[in-house]
Amino acid sequence: MKKVNILATASVANLVCGFDVLGMALADPADRMTMSLTDSPGITITHEDSYGLPLDPEKNVAGVALLALVEELKEKVGFHVTVNKLIKPGSGLGSSAASAAGAVAGANVLLGNRFSNEDLVRFAMMGEKLASGVKHADNIAPGLYGGITLVRSILPLDIVRLSFPPLYVTVVHPQIEVKTSDARQILRNQVQLKDAIRQWGNIAGLVTGFLQKDYALIGRSLEDVIVEPVRSILIPGFVDVKQRCMAAGALGGGISGSGPSIFMLSIEERTALKVEQEMKEIYSALGIEFRTYVTRICDKGIKVTEADS
Ligand code: HSE
Repeated sequence: MKKVNILATASVANLVCGFDVLGMALADPADRMTMSLTDSPGITITHEDSYGLPLDPEKNVAGVALLALVEELKEKVGFHVTVNKLIKPGSGLGSSAASAAGAVAGANVLLGNRFSNEDLVRFAMMGEKLASGVKHADNIAPGLYGGITLVRSILPLDIVRLSFPPLYVTVVHPQIEVKTSDARQILRNQVQLKDAIRQWGNIAGLVTGFLQKDYALIGRSLEDVIVEPVRSILIPGFVDVKQRCMAAGALGGGISGSGPSIFMLSIEERTALKVEQEMKEIYSALGIEFRTYVTRICDKGIKVTEADS
């Protein structure tokens, strides 16, 4: 293939209790990218959106991920990438991860699938490092592996794809920007043992709930006593959204990644739609612009298909 189309899915990192280790790919929204091999080496980037993201590959999340891939290839190749971002940067929906993981997934197909998924995660993490100052794979892994993933370790990489029962995901994105780097800086460096115990009980419970398709256990485990109490102050309406969505029948939910988006899981579509209505009412009353999505977990993750050259 000489040219590919890439649908780079959004993702919800942390899944409430699993800071930096759990994540899930969403069917919607997704960035649209095209990528082609060029005759001369080097990486060129064009944006079709209006976010004004850097074009210099060294300063662009997709660019640095591709530079890491090319370095390992030890062969002179060039790529041209066109990006149309439909996942707004700073939304908490894995926008930087979609660009970085989408680019390396596309490059891999153009190169005849020479790299493993694990390699691609390693390259794409360079994009996350550029975006937030820290390598984390909880948005990248679900994009590249699909569905829900556990990043047990990043050094060495140990990623486990989890099975999960049918679920609907409702997301509200209040139109304020929260930079992941800022949302990480406000976190405390130390946690109390009692909080750590509660948190790892919840992570184990959530993973078990997904694997055993136990909705009640999933709901009980969607609790975060470490990160949410600090970060939620950055999100107007957060407490209300949680309370009213749970009252409307959601299993549970919380901050999507580093925010400001909030996600809720529901068993049935009609509940997911009721949850969306609650979210709409809350942000309309607050006078804050917002965007909502009612979507599913994307089982396949990032999609790469041949494009007409
Ligand atoms: N785990 C990361 C964080 C995800 O919460 O900072 C960022 O999208």
